[in-house]
Amino acid sequence: MPETVLVTGGAGFIGSHTCVELLDHGYEVVTVDNYVNSSPQALDRVAKIARRPLTAAYDVDVRDRKALSEVFASHPVDAVIHFAAHKAVGESVSLPTEYYDTNVGGTCALLSVMREHRVHRLVFSSSCSVYGDAETVPLTEDSPVAPTNPYACTKLMCEHILQDVCARLSEMKVLALRYFNPVGAHPSGLLGEAPRGIPNNLMPYVAQVAVGRREKLSVFGDDYPTPDGTGVRDYIHVMDVAEGHRVAVEHLDDHTGMQVFNLGTGTGTSVLQLISAFSEVSRRPVPHQVVERRAGDVAALVADASAVATAWRWSTTRDLTAMCRDTWRFQELNPDGYSPDLVHAGPKTGELSCG
Ligand code: UFG
Repeated sequence: MPETVLVTGGAGFIGSHTCVELLDHGYEVVTVDNYVNSSPQALDRVAKIARRPLTAAYDVDVRDRKALSEVFASHPVDAVIHFAAHKAVGESVSLPTEYYDTNVGGTCALLSVMREHRVHRLVFSSSCSVYGDAETVPLTEDSPVAPTNPYACTKLMCEHILQDVCARLSEMKVLALRYFNPVGAHPSGLLGEAPRGIPNNLMPYVAQVAVGRREKLSVFGDDYPTPDGTGVRDYIHVMDVAEGHRVAVEHLDDHTGMQVFNLGTGTGTSVLQLISAFSEVSRRPVPHQVVERRAGDVAALVADASAVATAWRWSTTRDLTAMCRDTWRFQELNPDGYSPDLVHAGPKTGELSCG
């Protein structure tokens, strides 16, 4: 019997790419998503790329314990990958309650339903933002954590909850993956990042400027203590992130309890470097203007990626050029994202950004 993996936030940017990777490796895949910042159309494209269907796709909010429990009752779930969450740093500063409610409340609901159905294997979406304003990079999993915004606080709080649950339930096996900055798209150009409204993150914004959908990019500060003064991040191709999740599922039984791993490349790229790489690949100008720093931002976040390399004998393979090339292909083929007529109206949570 193939393993069944339940993916929360399965229609989202990272979720949809991970579904393709799981289907390609023979898993049965069940998705749960409330489509508040994603489109069911992404799941049709997942099936098209993988040339086989998902086992099931549910329009369910992870906080709805009753509905979630019915999903677990309908499938022999072997492992869960929990992506469903809001994910924008700036937005979390203005909407903290919504972030705690969805990210922390959603994780608690999922854990109680997993327990009810005796499912003990979980891969959790955490974030490099838990490290906060790091004095030195690269960051190992043992670097101090000091979140600087509500989004990062929700991720660290979920890690603490998972640690406490693992201490109480000896059968639990949890891998928390602290992703650095996922960007890029599936090389087919069928799947990619299609945020609702104005993009919060750098790469989709740059892509929309290059394609002419937005006039210019605001560069949030050029007075950081970095080589060119703009923020430095460790951008990681979403295909590598997806592969990392599949490999994580394969390693869930290595240990009981909770383990934390960075998912990054180990290479830092500044905002100006990313703009220049994207311009080169797309052969389009990316007009930009330096503005004030964004609330909650930090100077530099770069992974020490050696722990997964040692534990799983796995590391990322795609570089910045591939990240820009695949983002651009998706942007050119889908200038307006997924078709609006197929986009679910979703609950009334406005423009919140979900993972
Ligand atoms: N930036 C700009 N202009 C923009 C958007 C971003 O200059 O319009 C800068 C930011 O100041 C930062 C860099 O680009 O220096 C990256 O910003 P993002 O918003 O793309 O990503 P963050 O580093 O804020 O990271 C957050 C979370 C990560 C998550 C990532 C992608 O901390 O966990 O978003 O969702 F992976």
